[in-house]
Amino acid sequence: MSATTRPATPPTGPSRPPALVLRGLVKHYGDVPAVAGVDLEVRRGEFLTLLGPSGSGKTTTLRMIAGFTLQTAGTIEIDGADMSQVPPYRRDVGMVFQNYALFPHMTAAENVAFPLQMRRVGRSEIRRRVAEALALVKLEGHGDRYPRQLSGGQQQRIALARAVVFQPRLLLMDEPLGALDKKLREALQLEIMHISRELGATVIYVTHDQEEALVMSDRIAIFSEGRIEQLGSGEDLYERPVSLFVADFIGESNILRGRYEHDGQGDWLVRADWRWRIGPSAVARAGLASGSGAALIVRPERLRLVGTDESGAPGTNALEATVTDVLYLGPIRKYELLLPDGQPAVVREQGGGEREWHAGDRVRLTWAVEAGVLVPLPGG
Ligand SMILES: Nc1ncnc2c1ncn2[C@@H]1O[C@H](COP(=O)(O)OP(=O)(O)OP(=O)(O)O)[C@@H](O)[C@H]1O
Ligand SMILES: [Mg+2]
Repeated sequence: MSATTRPATPPTGPSRPPALVLRGLVKHYGDVPAVAGVDLEVRRGEFLTLLGPSGSGKTTTLRMIAGFTLQTAGTIEIDGADMSQVPPYRRDVGMVFQNYALFPHMTAAENVAFPLQMRRVGRSEIRRRVAEALALVKLEGHGDRYPRQLSGGQQQRIALARAVVFQPRLLLMDEPLGALDKKLREALQLEIMHISRELGATVIYVTHDQEEALVMSDRIAIFSEGRIEQLGSGEDLYERPVSLFVADFIGESNILRGRYEHDGQGDWLVRADWRWRIGPSAVARAGLASGSGAALIVRPERLRLVGTDESGAPGTNALEATVTDVLYLGPIRKYELLLPDGQPAVVREQGGGEREWHAGDRVRLTWAVEAGVLVPLPGG
């Protein structure tokens, strides 16, 4: 789309405001707070995903940004301009929905042309831009078809072409791939990423599929009960979750619940007659007072299995467990275990590990002190 695209690397600098700023955004339906106070700044050209469980307020947030739902409180700024009270068609925002919201009585090309007609673009310009948008989504030959003559994936491509054809300042997508099978979903994930990069578009994308979010996003906002629980890169969320909720939502975790304690020898997670060392950066991030309820989180690939007779290397923690199940998953072996307190644990060993273990084996789990992440326990 050479002639009509914005530059792939848009000009940046302190003088340019963020693409989108949400401040104290709230939406109540009666007594129900669907969105309970969202603050967010989205950078220009960024691909930002809202990820969270069903009912956590993702769609409601997106609809407020688009202007389809009026906020109860808070403000929405797009490109530095206050849009809080501006109607949807004047916000210059493109939107793709989960359920291919194409006009059924219009052809694919007419669907794509629609936003341009609304903006009173000239006829020959419309023809040119529609052709470009159809080429962008690789459906050049399909302009004359009606939506019912297109597959689900093709309909979503047309919806995407329609959302970008007028070069919106923001592109919003609400689970656009939710209705497609896994293979098609993965192909379209890459395509959406490439297209949005080619256009230099700022994208706000909603999904409840964590893998999709990790693959596609520059940053991810984890939603829980109408709030952003944590905002960061996929790596931030996986390696440095700030809460049990985030640790649980992104990937698998081993969770040791207890009490955080600081003494002359260092920092510890203490439980009954066990205690495990906590690294200084984890302590600093959690910012907990000594004595508060806390959990130590260790990802399954950070744990190692050793015999009960082996002592852990210096700088490691250890914990005894019993193997309950061994799952062979090709490049990795996954061990399911039971801790002395009856809690489950999980270990992933690449290439099968040094030694093979079987159900019923008593083992020690060891992990480097720095691999443990400290989070507060709710009500802790
Ligand atoms: N029009 C409405 N009237 C009343 N309640 C609503 C309305 N729309 C949303 N809600 C409620 O607001 C909350 C947030 O809904 P929302 O659709 O934003 O969630 P979501 O994160 O998009 O979930 P999902 O992943 O299932 O799409 C839910 O409890 C929902 O029932
Ligand atoms: Mg939704």
